[in-house]
Amino acid sequence: MAVVVSLINMKGGVGKTTLAAQLAHAADKKGFRTLAIDLDPQANLSQSLLTPEQYAKHLRNKKPTIVQIFDQYFPSTGEYTSPRPLDIKEITIKKAGYWSGSKLDLIPSRLELSRTLKNPTGKERRLAKALSRVADEYELVIIDCAPTESILTDAAYFASRYILIPVKPEFLATIGLPLLARSIQEFEFENSDHELDICGIIFVHSSKYSEGPEGRQSIKEVKAEASKHGWHIFQTPVRYSASYAKAAREGTPLENTSNVHYYVTAEFNKFVEEFFTRISLSKS
Ligand SMILES: Nc1ncnc2c1ncn2[C@@H]1O[C@H](COP(=O)(O)OP(=O)(O)OP(=O)(O)O)[C@@H](O)[C@H]1O
Ligand SMILES: [Mg+2]
Repeated sequence: MAVVVSLINMKGGVGKTTLAAQLAHAADKKGFRTLAIDLDPQANLSQSLLTPEQYAKHLRNKKPTIVQIFDQYFPSTGEYTSPRPLDIKEITIKKAGYWSGSKLDLIPSRLELSRTLKNPTGKERRLAKALSRVADEYELVIIDCAPTESILTDAAYFASRYILIPVKPEFLATIGLPLLARSIQEFEFENSDHELDICGIIFVHSSKYSEGPEGRQSIKEVKAEASKHGWHIFQTPVRYSASYAKAAREGTPLENTSNVHYYVTAEFNKFVEEFFTRISLSKS
């Protein structure tokens, strides 16, 4: 059975997608059967794992996306076809990563996913239900979430065993955390039969000054908030490096990205090891 992990933070631009893509690549490189799911109408994860041309072609050819998981049927594609029931396997792009060794699978997103937000009734469990049909085919499923709370957040909670919280050490990050804590508590209160744990907070130093005094102050505040809820903090932060953006542009795992510094990948790999330990995923 796959371990399902969602990357969530109500604060935008903290590094959720960057980390989701790199964790999916890292798991794939280790030989774990991995599925990445883009649950954000911005579709940044899809654009990071597919080439821009592949992604544009996918949309142009009206190929299915995560939207169909919430609509529960495939739209008619031409004069002679009619809408038909959903099969999650048809939505999954096999070997989506475009670096040569990739075996990574992807369920892509598109802007129309925001339509789901306008008519959300009864859709919260559809992702979990669809995933349960392929749970035996994967060891790890990584879900990249949008920065606002909506039906999509609930869908991620229902589908997940763990939540990973990327935090950018800055003033506004501290404000977002209590919102997330409340959202998770409300979900747990209403769905006490569903096992959902925070696997930890990972500091993503995605701006240069987040390592200065402002960053240190913010880290203190986040640690205080985390200890209130008993949330783990990952020991190795994800440091600032332009290689993360470059990796998205090149569609590569960090360590295959051109001119990446050894210390950047070494640190990231330390975090990856801690992450796998936290979610009890190992090669037997
Ligand atoms: N460790 C890092 N070092 C430098 N830049 C980073 C790092 N992580 C992320 N970034 C950059 O920060 C920006 C925001 O990252 P990303 O898109 O992953 O955030 P997000 O939380 O997914 O945003 P959104 O809330 O809009 O979905 C991007 O430009 C990305 O390249
Ligand atoms: Mg994102």
